[in-house]
Amino acid sequence: MTDFFTMHPGETAAPVPPGPVLSSGSTGIRRVHRFLLWAYGEAPNLVRSAAPGDTSRAAYVGEVLGNFDKVLLIHQEGQDLLMYPQVAERAPASAPHVEQMLDHHKLIRERVQGIEPVRKRWMQTGGAEDRDVLAKGYEDVRSVLEEHLRREVTEVMPVVDRVMTEEELKAMVQHGVMQHDKKFLVTYLGMILATNPPEDRREIFFGEMPAPARLGYRLIGRRMYRKQYSTLFPGRPIPETL
Ligand SMILES: [Fe+2]
Repeated sequence: MTDFFTMHPGETAAPVPPGPVLSSGSTGIRRVHRFLLWAYGEAPNLVRSAAPGDTSRAAYVGEVLGNFDKVLLIHQEGQDLLMYPQVAERAPASAPHVEQMLDHHKLIRERVQGIEPVRKRWMQTGGAEDRDVLAKGYEDVRSVLEEHLRREVTEVMPVVDRVMTEEELKAMVQHGVMQHDKKFLVTYLGMILATNPPEDRREIFFGEMPAPARLGYRLIGRRMYRKQYSTLFPGRPIPETL
């Protein structure tokens, strides 16, 4: 199987400045992007999985999708504030690429925010028309997001690895973590683990997670993740985590 993060014909990476590799941003970002690819790959059909008028299903699915949206927008905001300005300044030759990525972010944000009122109304009423508009809206988010997630990794991250330090990237991750509640984060950790290959899974869990987060995941997160997965996708085998 071809790696998702492979450049398409006609695409070119930003010129990589000379000097040593300072950080492993590419590795970390692939892990988040794999989760987002999965989440938005599932989103349209998750919406369609609620029968018209099934408000309890609509409320449940709508809440999970709202959490996906929050993760996505906070992830982008972190890059907008703490990664792209630094890259543009330190690697000026990558300016056109940076501009393109920021345009993607803006379009994604507009699409996500555009369907938010529909999502919220559908959670209350389960209406068939809102359901169809929302499912189509998530398809539109997915189409630009897939291109963005691929091109950010293939075209821009090699530059990021050379101009930003590990500490700076950690601060960017922390910017996101601070904005989510802890209970949500342990479930989200299950989704991150499940959507990454086994080797990455182990590195995330044992290499990146602080001990309290590992404990929280073992005590409640794993169970919450499994329950959520089986409610979202009844009858499907639950993907392995740790
Ligand atoms: Fe991005």
